[in-house]
Amino acid sequence: MNKSKFLNIILAIAVLVLVIQLTQKDSGSGRQKTTSVPATADSVLAKSDSAMVPFKKKSLGIRSEVYPKPALVIGSYDEQGKPNIMTAAWVGICNSDPLSISVSMRPATYSYWNVTGSKAFTVNIPSSELVEYVNYAGRVSGRDVDKFKETGLTPVEGEFVNAPYVKEFPIVIECELTEFHDLGSHRQFIGKVIDVKADEAILDAEDHVNVDLLNPLIYAGRGYYETGRSIPEGAYSMNKIDGKPFVPDYSDQYANETLEVIHNRKSVRHFTDRPVSKEQIETLLRAGMAAPTAANRQPWVFYVITQRATLDALAEQLPYAKMLTQVETAIVVCGDMEKAGNLKDEDYWVQDCSAASENILLAAESMGLGAVWTASYPYDDRTQAVINALNLPENHIPLNVIPVGYPTGEDVPKDKWKPENIFWK
Ligand SMILES: Cc1cc2nc3c(=O)[nH]c(=O)nc-3n(C[C@H](O)[C@H](O)[C@H](O)COP(=O)(O)O)c2cc1C
Repeated sequence: MNKSKFLNIILAIAVLVLVIQLTQKDSGSGRQKTTSVPATADSVLAKSDSAMVPFKKKSLGIRSEVYPKPALVIGSYDEQGKPNIMTAAWVGICNSDPLSISVSMRPATYSYWNVTGSKAFTVNIPSSELVEYVNYAGRVSGRDVDKFKETGLTPVEGEFVNAPYVKEFPIVIECELTEFHDLGSHRQFIGKVIDVKADEAILDAEDHVNVDLLNPLIYAGRGYYETGRSIPEGAYSMNKIDGKPFVPDYSDQYANETLEVIHNRKSVRHFTDRPVSKEQIETLLRAGMAAPTAANRQPWVFYVITQRATLDALAEQLPYAKMLTQVETAIVVCGDMEKAGNLKDEDYWVQDCSAASENILLAAESMGLGAVWTASYPYDDRTQAVINALNLPENHIPLNVIPVGYPTGEDVPKDKWKPENIFWK
């Protein structure tokens, strides 16, 4: 071996030793870093039931987890010139020059056809105080109702474009449609901004929008948020980043939306007079029919009760279903003994219809609706009362009556978590 080859080997060994030392040091200091973020790191691990590990990422697949999302209201005219509003979260500035805003809408919305026809729209920016109107504009269609009339909001003819804006909203933006792109589920409408108007009450001396005064609304997950106060500039100076990662504490949040719905479900017994649409009921029934059943018998039928007289008659006869007088719709989940076949004597239909009922209750919660399971079976008198009121055939046995409507907010979920109910073996 010549001298230079020997020196090369020595050098390689030295580098290897150095790398090993550095790696060990790194992992050591990594451990220290975690413990050196005392309150937050410890509390995340201590509080979390699922031993959530900070920074350990879990793949969620393809989901629209972009935060924050706006909750804006799009104004448009239909073919007859009727003004309409629709809430949209799939919205944003998409170009600076010319200043343009994109709004993505599904063909199922009335606004999609309005904007396609009128080639104009307005973007109305709400303050958080207007959340009720925003939510309403996103839950019912201008195809079925006059949303301006229903809400009492005032449509104002656009000054520059063929679209109405909402007088009561603090910022309104008039847009002229320049192009659109069919992306799949949504058509993305691109509107050139023609004019922006803002309430003087939210402007500072230099006509800049004071965001604290605007108090804009955020849509995230299934709910709405306020932005809160502005963060002082000093708090985001680069000096703050000192190499120690901040460990966010998510421990009091649910891990996903499904769990959130499960934990927020409650028996709703107080309803507003807002009606529920046929489409919403169908969505609930679809969820019901997705439940598991013994031997896939699907031993059920669902009666949707909308007749006032029938709802009132049931309310009168069922001791725990008095709230039927407050709603316009109820679902009666029935076992169908013909479909249950030889499994009916084992009461499998009860389990199957119960699973369907729970699916309906969860789906209602997820849609912002309220519902409650009021029993008929196995009480003979209540079961017979429902059979009589609905004139049911012999093979349909009502398990329950589920009133469905919009909750007043008076009913809240119960925390039923009791570790003492669990036995680990
Ligand atoms: C917070 C929120 C955001 C929404 N975002 C969109 C959206 O970006 N695009 C869309 O097509 N629908 C969206 N929707 C649903 C529509 O607003 C809803 O279908 C509405 O009833 C359509 O009204 P229209 O038929 O009168 O146009 C949203 C609803 C809510 C509540």
